[in-house]
Amino acid sequence: MRTALGMVSVLLGISRLFRLFTRTPRHFFRDQHQEEDEDLRRRTRQFGGGRVDHLEGSQGSVQRLMGKSGSKGPGASGPAGPELTGNMAADAFIKNGIVPDIVDTAPTETAAVTYESNTTIVDFGNELTPTQVKSPPQVIWAAEEGYLYTLIMTDPDAPSRSNPKFREWHHWLIVNIPGHDIGRGEVLTDYIGAAPPKDSGLHRYVFLVYRQQGKLTCNEERLPNNSTANRGKFKTKVFATKYKLGNPVAGNFFQAQWDDWVPQLYASMKK
Ligand SMILES: *[C@@H]1O[C@H](CO)[C@@H](O)[C@H](O)[C@H]1NC(C)=O
Ligand SMILES: *[C@@H]1O[C@H](CO)[C@@H](O)[C@H](O)[C@H]1NC(C)=O
Ligand SMILES: *[C@@H]1O[C@H](CO)[C@@H](O)[C@H](O)[C@H]1NC(C)=O
Repeated sequence: MRTALGMVSVLLGISRLFRLFTRTPRHFFRDQHQEEDEDLRRRTRQFGGGRVDHLEGSQGSVQRLMGKSGSKGPGASGPAGPELTGNMAADAFIKNGIVPDIVDTAPTETAAVTYESNTTIVDFGNELTPTQVKSPPQVIWAAEEGYLYTLIMTDPDAPSRSNPKFREWHHWLIVNIPGHDIGRGEVLTDYIGAAPPKDSGLHRYVFLVYRQQGKLTCNEERLPNNSTANRGKFKTKVFATKYKLGNPVAGNFFQAQWDDWVPQLYASMKK
C-alpha cells in the first residue's frame, strides 16, 4: 500500500515537472539566426497560442493543438462572466478580467513580448518591475503576408484596479505596421513604460494586436514620450470600433506595481 502510494506520488511529481518544463520559455530566443518563420511557429506553440492555421496550413495540426487543451478548464462552470474557451491565450485574458475590462473578445494567439534584449519575457500576467519595462519591448506575432497591423499597450487599472477612474491609461499605440515590423509603423502614442502610483497595487499592462482592413488615416493627437497628457481615459473598444479593427488577433500582458524607477520617470516628464 505504502509503495503504491509512493509510486503514484513519484509519477505525479514527474508529470508536474514535465509540464513545468514544457511551459518554460527557456530557449525562447535561443538562436537569432534561425529561419524566422520556423522560429515564430515554435514560439507561438510554446506559448500555447492556439490558432496557427495560417502558419501550419493544415487542419489536422490545428485540431491537434486545439485538442490538447480542448476541454474547458477549471472555473469554466464558475459564476457569471465569459466562458472559458480552452485556448490558453484567450483563457488567460478571460481569467484576468481583461475581457470585458478592455475587450469583449479575447485574442487566441500569443504576441511574443520581450524586454531588455529578450531577457525579460511577458507571459500572461507574470509580474515585472517598472525598471524592467522602461524601454520599449520587442513584439512579434504571427503576421499574415500583406496585412497592416495596429499595436496597443494599455493599462485598465489607472489609478488602481479597485478604482479605475482613468481607465484606460494607454502606453503605446502604433498603426499601419507592415507585418510585425513595428519600426515601420506609424506611432500615434510614443512608448512610456509602466508607472503605477505608489501603494496602488498591481496593474495589468495589456498588449493587443489588431489586423487592419487597410491603411488607416488617423486624426488622433500624436502623444510624445515626454508628457503624460491625454493618455488617460483611452478606450480600446472605442478606438477599435472607430477604425473598424474587429477583434484583436494576438495579445499578451504582464502586471507591475510601483518601484523606485516610477518617481524618476515622472520627474523626466515635462510639466
Ligand atoms: C531578440 O530576439 C529576436 C528574435 O529572435 C531577434 O530578432 C532580435 O534581434 C533579438 N533582440 C536583441 C536585442 O537581442
Ligand atoms: C523618447 O523618444 C525619443 C525619440 O522619439 C527617444 O530618443 C528617447 O530616448 C525617448 N525617451 C525615453 C525616456 O524613452
Ligand atoms: C517632447 O517631445 C516632442 C516630440 O519628440 C518634442 O517635439 C518636444 O519638444 C519635447 N518637449 C520637451 C519639453 O522636451
